[in-house]
Amino acid sequence: HESDIGRTDPITLTQWILTQQQIKAPNARGNLSILLNAICVACKYVESAVRKAGLAGILGLAGSGNVQGEDQKKLDVLANEVFINVLKRCGQCSVLVSEEIDEEILIEGGGDYSVVFDPLDGSSNIDCGVSIGTIYGIFKKPADEPASVRNVLRPGRELVAAGYCLYGSSCSMVISVGGPPTHFTLDPSLGEFVLLSPALHVPNSGKIYSINEGNSVLWDAPTSQFVKECKQPAKGGDPKSLRYVGSMVADVHRTLLYGGVFMYPADSKTNTGKLRLLYEGNPMAFLVENGGGRAITGSGPVLDLQPGKIHERCPIFLGSKQDVDRIEALYNGAA
Ligand code: AHG
Ligand code: MN
Ligand code: MN
Ligand code: MN
Repeated sequence: HESDIGRTDPITLTQWILTQQQIKAPNARGNLSILLNAICVACKYVESAVRKAGLAGILGLAGSGNVQGEDQKKLDVLANEVFINVLKRCGQCSVLVSEEIDEEILIEGGGDYSVVFDPLDGSSNIDCGVSIGTIYGIFKKPADEPASVRNVLRPGRELVAAGYCLYGSSCSMVISVGGPPTHFTLDPSLGEFVLLSPALHVPNSGKIYSINEGNSVLWDAPTSQFVKECKQPAKGGDPKSLRYVGSMVADVHRTLLYGGVFMYPADSKTNTGKLRLLYEGNPMAFLVENGGGRAITGSGPVLDLQPGKIHERCPIFLGSKQDVDRIEALYNGAA
């Protein structure tokens, strides 16, 4: 039954996590559930901070920088601190990698899991009230392996879970523990993430392309050709619409729901693009592939890359299968 204030049988993220555990691993100790609940709490904390950022004096620059040479915003620093504290406290992690911390953090006597995360994605959008987010990926280390950076320098295909939280016009949590991504939205009056859609499926083709066009002089030929086809399709076809928020979480969330393609290609200066493989590329590629879409670098699936360094970058094209197939064909020399 649906009342004026919503469904009268809400399923919360916490309930869903516990049910997933019962279905998928009835004999497990529940450690992953504890970790996912900790992440859920950290996201709610950041959401609350985002909503009152202007009032609480947490807009603007922190006055510090990170290892990638970016100026940190106060909210980058705050979100990072919240995640590190909550993840350390939950007792399930032995390795943490954050965009905002130069080196990996090793936790003595921690649990079997490692978390890679972008505490606040879309920093440039904070001060003007545009959607931002948090991205995370979770690995499990083999029981006999000591806690070390090797636990996270693994192909994204080995992730056990990944997700993001979008601090948008509403607050969404999308998470996959290997199956199709599940979509929750925060009911602010309950303070709970409530199930919206149990299984997201990326539409097979889409009407939207998403890329920073300001970089077009730096693009390679396949990227330039694909964007040209988006604007000037073969006879009879409709041109695609351009949508680019500049927060990966928002651009990927839209792509999961509406279809289309999100791109951050390699540029002629760096050959890598901007997005970081561990805590941006891989978690999003994991979600998109689990939703039936594709995520490639131009020379193969993002999830097959073997990372060498924790902050390394990679080109990325993700979204609807038909669109990504076309990009792949262009990289393979198609006309
Ligand atoms: P972050 O704010 O975590 O550093 O990430 C910013 C990323 C990502 O959110 C977005 O897709 C991309 O930067 C936008 O980059 P451009 O401004 O170069 O388009
Ligand atoms: Mn940043
Ligand atoms: Mn980011
Ligand atoms: Mn960030």
